[in-house]
Amino acid sequence: MAGAPLMATPKISVRSVSKTFDLAGHELAALQDVSLDIADNEFVTVVGPSGCGKTTLMNILAGLEEPTGGHAVVDGREVSGPGPDRGVIFQQYALFPWLTVRRNVEFGLREQGVGRRERRELADHYLRLVGLEQFADALPKTLSGGMRQRCAIARAYAVNPSILLMDEPFGALDALTRVNLQEQLLQTWNEERRTVLFITHDVDEAVFLANRVVVMAARPGRVFDVIDVDLPYPRPEEARLSPEFAALRNRVWRAVHHQDGGPAVVPQPSVPTA
Ligand SMILES: Nc1ncnc2c1ncn2[C@@H]1O[C@H](COP(=O)(O)OP(=O)(O)OP(=O)(O)O)[C@@H](O)[C@H]1O
Ligand SMILES: [Mg+2]
Repeated sequence: MAGAPLMATPKISVRSVSKTFDLAGHELAALQDVSLDIADNEFVTVVGPSGCGKTTLMNILAGLEEPTGGHAVVDGREVSGPGPDRGVIFQQYALFPWLTVRRNVEFGLREQGVGRRERRELADHYLRLVGLEQFADALPKTLSGGMRQRCAIARAYAVNPSILLMDEPFGALDALTRVNLQEQLLQTWNEERRTVLFITHDVDEAVFLANRVVVMAARPGRVFDVIDVDLPYPRPEEARLSPEFAALRNRVWRAVHHQDGGPAVVPQPSVPTA
């Protein structure tokens, strides 16, 4: 596979995974022979055209779908269902509307049998980490989209999963909120490392966050290219303005938009500079 580094013991190992769906009598190859290793504490982003199998790949790793061929392995064990080692953040922030922000964050801890006092301490810690401590007693409907997504991130972090699977978590947000949340997510990840698989449509986002960007192609869904992002962390906002960032961004953009090898015209970046 192009660009894959050698890894002694990967945290996540996707080995020749295929997934076919039966679509009105014919077979649709959502994923075909996808292989990918992700190291412990690595931040990997996945970009690719609509329908290339990004969500399918995430669902397989989350244990919500079974592959038709190959193996999805986490910590050396084949994935056989969802587990507390993998926190999943979906595009539609799935908060419980009748619970306050703090109780949403406490929810998974309660399920795990964590006592009331420790639950509260953990919830408050993660709410501070995402800057929502003043909204602990608010209901989700009184929060903005970005705040809800921060709450979802706090909730996923609180149960201490070693892996975060995020499916276009910032997709529905405006550009400025999105940039703020990207920075906040990186800050959170710098303080408490996790292995992250982050799906996005946004090339800037893919490069800004990742150690490595996986570019997928559609029909059949497959890995098209894997691009290393050799930019140091922590990455301040200004990192987006560097020539190195621009070069990586152009490379990923070309891989996403010119999978047939046609000529590429790369658009200028539209990064808020305020
Ligand atoms: N449950 C299902 N039944 C049948 N076909 C499905 C199912 N889930 C996904 N597919 C098909 O598999 C392909 C990959 O879908 P998937 O949702 O993984 O794509 P994606 O890369 O996440 O796309 P998007 O960027 O639009 O979210 C699509 O062609 C889709 O129609
Ligand atoms: Mg999807």
